[in-house]
Parts: sequence; structure tokens; C-alpha cells
Amino acid sequence: MTPLDLAPTEASPSAVAIPGAYARCIAASKRVRWDIDTDVIRGRRLSLSQKYLPDGLSLIGKLDFLDDDDRRWLSQIQGRTYAHMFGLVERFIGAKVLELSRDHALGDQVALEALVRFGDEELKHQELFRRMEALAAEAMPAGYSFPWKPNDIAAAVLSKSSWAVLALTLHIELFTQAHYRESVLPDGDLSPLFKDALLYHWREEAQHAMLDELEWRRLDATLDPNARDRAVGEFIELVGSVDGILQAQARNDADYFMQTSAIGRTDKDKDGAVLDAVLKAYRWQYILSGARHPHFVKVLRELLTDGQLGRIVDALAPLT
Ligand SMILES: [Fe+2]
Ligand SMILES: [Fe+2]
Repeated sequence: MTPLDLAPTEASPSAVAIPGAYARCIAASKRVRWDIDTDVIRGRRLSLSQKYLPDGLSLIGKLDFLDDDDRRWLSQIQGRTYAHMFGLVERFIGAKVLELSRDHALGDQVALEALVRFGDEELKHQELFRRMEALAAEAMPAGYSFPWKPNDIAAAVLSKSSWAVLALTLHIELFTQAHYRESVLPDGDLSPLFKDALLYHWREEAQHAMLDELEWRRLDATLDPNARDRAVGEFIELVGSVDGILQAQARNDADYFMQTSAIGRTDKDKDGAVLDAVLKAYRWQYILSGARHPHFVKVLRELLTDGQLGRIVDALAPLT
């Protein structure tokens, strides 16, 4: 199966063609607005007695040699990395959104408000995920490592064209919603605090994905075919860079797990199988669940030639 096999074949109206789309994003932003302390955390702390990430994201069900305690522990390590990863990507998303808002500063004030609210929400989300990561750190033994600096990663991402950054951003904000709907919501065995963090985050992501698409299509309409072709190459480079981070972080997290789990004390030969499973889970969480998202595929199909789509499919193939 290729990454684009799940694509719908029917075209549907794009968000950009719908009148009032920016105004609807503002209305949604006002309707679902929440507060980190009074709505999400509410004075609670994380414990190690419940899973953080659902099985549909951690893929721990595939590790049949682990006992229940080790499976729960691996979901918690992955959950801490999930909090770190969102803190990382939301740094460049927020910066890009504020940059794009300048295009509307002396024009459409509704679009400007929608993007300013978007930027404000991503700042809040960064704080939420920093707080969740700190709560996970408080509950976990020493030795966990996440060496990436959000500003360094953001500077590298933002050196690419806005087209490429918005493609990556829409893919992220669509998979965020899919993660909640398909994996977090149906898993009845999660930490209530971790589940609430993902619930409230999801509530503000639907309007973000809509704004990503509106802005992506707005910029796309200004590109000539050569510029768009270069931007496709930059998007592929960005996905490759994400995969580089995932490979290194999977190694970090597998090492930490082997140092701190029952299986790590009794059967060190399982190291390779754990690393493979964690990398597979991370590629699913941060690349493939977005690349295969039907709406992402639909927009790509509308914007790109078959040859350009084929380049993306070929780039994703080694990750599946
Ligand atoms: Fe967010
Ligand atoms: Fe977002």
C-alpha cells in the first residue's frame, strides 16, 4: 500500500471557495476557547498508573513480548515525547501564522483577526504542552532525553518557502484531529489528565486546519509552475528532516525504555525490536497519519500534477 492509497477520488469544494470561511474560523475560535488551568489541568498531576498515549498511536499492541506494566510505561514515554513534539512544531506554526497575518494587516480585517487568534491559540498550546511535559518529567525517573530546541527547528523549517511550511502545517493539524477522533477518544484506559489535554487541544485545531488551507491556497494561486515545483521539493525535504528527528528520538526513547523497564533488565536482546516498534509508531504519529489523511490527499491532488504527487509518494514509500 502506498501512502496515498486511502485518498478519496471525488473532488469536493475547497474551503477557500466558501464565502465567510475566515469569519467562521473566528466564530469557532470564540465558541471553543478554553483555559489551561481552569479547564484542562485543574490542579491535577500525572501519575504512572495509567497510559498517556492510546494504543492506536503508540502501537504497543504489536510488542507482544511486553507485560502490561512495560506496555503502559512505553505509552507514557511516548506521551512525554508527544508533548515535546507538539511544543516543537507549534513554535514554527505560530511564527508562520503571525508572518502571514501581515499580508492582511491593511486589508481583510476578518482574515487578520482569524490569523491573530490562531497565533494566540498556538502560543497557549505551546504552554499547555510544556506544562504536560513538566508534569510527565515530575512522575518519571531520570534519564529521558529530548535534545531538540524549538527555536532551532523553527529557524530551519522557516527557511523554506511558505508553501512548503503550510503544506507541512496542514498535514500536522489534520493528523492532530485524526489522532483524537480515531485513537484518543475511543481509548477508555488513558490518564484522564492526558486525555483532557488532547481533547482541549483538538477542539482548537479544526479552525486551524481550515485557516492553513485557506492561506495555503491563497499563496499557491500566486506561484508559477516552477516555483510550485521547487516548493514541492522543499516540502519533501521538510518531511525528511522530521523523519531524521523521529529516528534519533526513537533511539533515545528506546534506550530510556530499556534502561527503565522489566524487559530491559531481563532480555537486552529485545532492544532492536523495541527500537523498530517505537520508530514505526513515531512515523505513524508524525508523518503517515497526516500524509494519508483523506483531506490532505484531496488538497494535494487539487494543487499538484501527477508527477509532483508521485515525487511525494516516492519520498514517503521508505517510511511505510
Ligand atoms: Fe495546537
Ligand atoms: Fe494548531
